[in-house]
Amino acid sequence: MLLRAPSAAISVSNSRGENLVPLFSASSSSSSSILRLSPVRNGGGLIVSASKGANTRPLTGVVFEPFEEVKKELSLIPTAPQVSLARQKYSDACEAAINEQINVEYNVSYVYHSMFAYFDRDNVALKGLAKFFKESSEEERDHAEKLMEYQNKRGGRVTLESMIKPLCEYDNEQKGDALYAMELALSLEKLTNEKLLHLHKVAEENGDVQLTEFVESEYLGEQVEAIKKISEYVAQLRRVGKGHGVWHFDQMLLHEGA
Ligand SMILES: [Fe+2]
Ligand SMILES: [Fe+2]
Repeated sequence: MLLRAPSAAISVSNSRGENLVPLFSASSSSSSSILRLSPVRNGGGLIVSASKGANTRPLTGVVFEPFEEVKKELSLIPTAPQVSLARQKYSDACEAAINEQINVEYNVSYVYHSMFAYFDRDNVALKGLAKFFKESSEEERDHAEKLMEYQNKRGGRVTLESMIKPLCEYDNEQKGDALYAMELALSLEKLTNEKLLHLHKVAEENGDVQLTEFVESEYLGEQVEAIKKISEYVAQLRRVGKGHGVWHFDQMLLHEGA
């Protein structure tokens, strides 16, 4: 809402109309307006008044007027119960891109959950990796949920798509299961990063500053951190080989943060 005050200057005047203090001034203009502190009728106090050129109509306080812009907004507020009241400058493309990202996060969460189930098996028993992938799965689900909340905040509609069936077996003759799963995790994090950058691009193309800020502050930094961490895990697993070294790596993950 706008306060109609096309003033070029605001000042304080005493009861004799003398200009005491110029409070602030805007750009110089031939149609200068002045907000004044004037004496209250029959009293010695000061009141605020605004003037534009010859208009010296006093104001007894801040007055919000129903401007044309507000009238237009009022007429645009939807009345149908199925339609969001909050939605403003939120494009269909941004809404669709958010739903797409929700699907990406859920799919990655599903794969990590499958890895948790694999490493938690009694005949695999790499408890550190099971713990790591369980926490990673929960983290990706949280990412999806945060996007859902954002979608609702902007007045979009959350639409969930189907998820792809993940692998159930992660053993790999050449790499071993731990390295194979960690390399897969790294590729998924990089794919997620690409999708986030796409979401950011859609927001930019549609002039949605709030969405670009949301993606930057809540996702992009964390995503780069995740890629760095998992890259290090891949490098370490390549060093230790498939046997005893994997057990030590797993112990390190198991006691991390404990
Ligand atoms: Fe994520
Ligand atoms: Fe992630």
